[in-house]
Amino acid sequence: MKIYEVKDYQEMSRKAANILSAQVILKPDCVLGLATGSTPIGTYDQLVDWYNKGDVDFSEVKTVNLDEYKGLDKTNDQSYYYFMHKHLFDRVNINPDNTHVPDGTEPDAEKECARYEELIRSMGGVDIQLLGLGHNGHIGFNEPDSSFAKVTHCVDLTESTIEANKRFFASADDVPRQAYTMGIGTIMKAKKILLVVNGEAKADIVAKAFFGPVTPEVPASVLQLHSDVVIVADSAALSKIPR
Ligand code: GLP
Repeated sequence: MKIYEVKDYQEMSRKAANILSAQVILKPDCVLGLATGSTPIGTYDQLVDWYNKGDVDFSEVKTVNLDEYKGLDKTNDQSYYYFMHKHLFDRVNINPDNTHVPDGTEPDAEKECARYEELIRSMGGVDIQLLGLGHNGHIGFNEPDSSFAKVTHCVDLTESTIEANKRFFASADDVPRQAYTMGIGTIMKAKKILLVVNGEAKADIVAKAFFGPVTPEVPASVLQLHSDVVIVADSAALSKIPR
């Protein structure tokens, strides 16, 4: 596990975008595993900036997103499909047919999750998976006590995640109660993992996840077992790690 300590959000975003663009330059038809949440927005902005300057070309890139709320359609501005188009896909030369997000409108969870898992497999797996970190240690929507073996599945969101994500909705009641997410088993199959995290509010969970025991209670702790993980974190997020 390699940890890059950076000064602030802007530096974190630039470093993460550097790593992702290096992947695209080395393998133009790579599969990027992408994430939502507020943390990666600056990373996407930086990639768009470099694309506009002619430094990164997304024409052959393929993407798979980690997760999607169950029940939200593509036009809902809180869907992760909408988020990805707004922050990245509509701003670069990626072929929309090569971008994939679980279909939140498919009511048959088993069918959709099996389709998504097979899709990732058929694309040859994920070359680099970008991850954010939930306050309770979740990655994607793998909440505490998820089995490490799980592949793409439907989850019931915990109260703490509903609480954390309600800021994006009119009220907590509007936050969907379920989501489709790549499982930890899916995430761990990615060839490389890039986790971005910033801010003091995540300092406790960063220390627990990456310096504490590997346990399903802290889903991100499983990353300690992956052979190629890069964490880009600002000093505030690293303020509670053992030195
Ligand atoms: C959501 C997403 C996660 C994300 C997390 C943290 O629940 N499903 O993929 O990492 O929130 O979000 P933020 O970056 O806004 O703190």
